[in-house]
Amino acid sequence: MKKTLLLISVVASLFTSCLSDKGDLPKPIVLSDTTVHYNWTIKPIIFNNCASCHGSAGPQSDLTNFTTLQADTTNVVLRITGQGAIMPQSGPLSSGDIGLIKTWVKQGALPN
Ligand code: HEC
Repeated sequence: MKKTLLLISVVASLFTSCLSDKGDLPKPIVLSDTTVHYNWTIKPIIFNNCASCHGSAGPQSDLTNFTTLQADTTNVVLRITGQGAIMPQSGPLSSGDIGLIKTWVKQGALPN
């Protein structure tokens, strides 16, 4: 019971301290996030440009599967930069997309 009362008073004091801080809000922090994310950036690039041939139905390697893609990143970077037959076969990705994939691979090709 004592613990409950203590908890209630702590929570209540948190609320009142928030209210009294209203006129003195903290300044926003601007994060410079240069991480390239798999889910937000790489996955859509692969799905839009590679999945038609490199999907789960194969015969080509399944690049829509994260594990397969991660294991093949060396070849992927070689092929999108024109070392070997260019991928996608219809012509290179934009230099922006190529840069994003290269950066993601350099950052460890994480499932982020
Ligand atoms: C129109 C179909 C097509 C598209 C789209 C396509 N590929 Fe391919 N890809 C192939 C074929 C067919 C091969 C096997 C022949 C060869 O190696 O050139 C291949 C082979 C590869 C290889 C070498 C084999 C392996 O799996 O390591 C890589 C890497 C690759 N593609 C990556 C990509 C990437 C990345 C994209 C998208 C940016 C892409 N491909 C888009 C048809 C395609």
